[in-house]
Amino acid sequence: MLPISERSKSLGTENAFVVLQEVLERVAAGHDVKSFCIGQPDFVTPDHIRLAGMRAMIEGKTGYTPSAGIPELREAIAASVRRTRKIEVSADDVVVGCGAKPFIGYVIQAVTDPGSGHEVIFPVPGYPIYESQTRAQGAVPVLLPLRERHGFRLDPEELESLVSPRTRLLILNSPHNPTGSVLSRRELESIAKVVERYPDLWVFSDEPYATLVYDQEYTSLASIPGMTERTIVVDSASKTYAMPGWRVGWAVNRRLAPVMARWVTNTDSCAPSIAQWATLEAVTAPQDASVAMHEAFHRRRDEVIDGLNRIPGVHCALPGGAFYAWPTVTELCRRAGGLDSEALRRRLLTEAGVAVLSDVHFGPRIPGEGEHLRMSFAASSANLKEGISRLARFAGAAGREEVAARR
Ligand SMILES: Cc1ncc(COP(=O)(O)O)c(C=O)c1O
Repeated sequence: MLPISERSKSLGTENAFVVLQEVLERVAAGHDVKSFCIGQPDFVTPDHIRLAGMRAMIEGKTGYTPSAGIPELREAIAASVRRTRKIEVSADDVVVGCGAKPFIGYVIQAVTDPGSGHEVIFPVPGYPIYESQTRAQGAVPVLLPLRERHGFRLDPEELESLVSPRTRLLILNSPHNPTGSVLSRRELESIAKVVERYPDLWVFSDEPYATLVYDQEYTSLASIPGMTERTIVVDSASKTYAMPGWRVGWAVNRRLAPVMARWVTNTDSCAPSIAQWATLEAVTAPQDASVAMHEAFHRRRDEVIDGLNRIPGVHCALPGGAFYAWPTVTELCRRAGGLDSEALRRRLLTEAGVAVLSDVHFGPRIPGEGEHLRMSFAASSANLKEGISRLARFAGAAGREEVAARR
């Protein structure tokens, strides 16, 4: 048989897409499933942005663009980053790519060498691509647990115990997928105190949910004194403007910009031209549509968390950002016959008609941290209400079965 590389065989994946396939198959087979497993806004891209895309198409803006992106968009992103992150950046510091995701691989490749023992620290639970790209690029993954007792926020002391002169990259993600936790300015200052002791340490600040913060003002690590130079601010149009399928994201860092642009040249050549022109409209036009989506997510967050906390055996902390609930379901798992979170997720899909993800889709289990599910509230209020009722019915039945079994 013709060989396939070990690194390709061991490449990780994003299980949201695997579960989505499972859900689609069940729906195609005639089952009624309410799905809360995918992390994308349930809104279509606002009209004015789609029209800008159409205009670009009609005007024939169909060629390659510079690898770093069209100058107008880089300029607009720099202005937006100056305003929202309160840091001094220019268009030269901005590189546009096909979403935020490719920058995870570009940056790991830009700051680590394969086989050199360079370490990458990232949060667990966390976005699964951090680990798969770290391994694929031949760097050493170091898992930083986010614990329930710290509100699923990074504990600077635990970070301090893991960082060393071998660490080349720390990946931060606030607001956080999957827990919805948000780092406060004070916590970022404590993180900065650890980081500043290591001159070779870069920070990848994964910020695609930066506009989706509900209870506090957003702070980026880049704005903490001394952190701008070594922080790569990464954001995208996917969540803020409901544009995940357009594939536009960006990374901002003065020193790494030319390196990242070269990686874009070596992979996609450039982000799609039409999508870049549409994103220019998204970033520069009045932000009313994004504000309206933010309000909808905020309302749904309150409804969903309230609903989850009324279900016996479920406890859910209030997520400060993003559009994910991360309920602790350890007790529900026990009542349902000693399941783990993944077995519970499967039963919820097949018996209750509710599709969610489980914690094992976001990294290995952390001993002592219990069982969790991820429920996206980027879904209509009606669907969320029905989903919560189904979960409550399932939990009620599990409770009755447990009582019956004890008799
Ligand atoms: C934490 C995190 N980072 C990066 C991404 C990638 O987003 P995109 O490539 O669509 O900009 C996602 C998408 O779900 C995410 O949750």
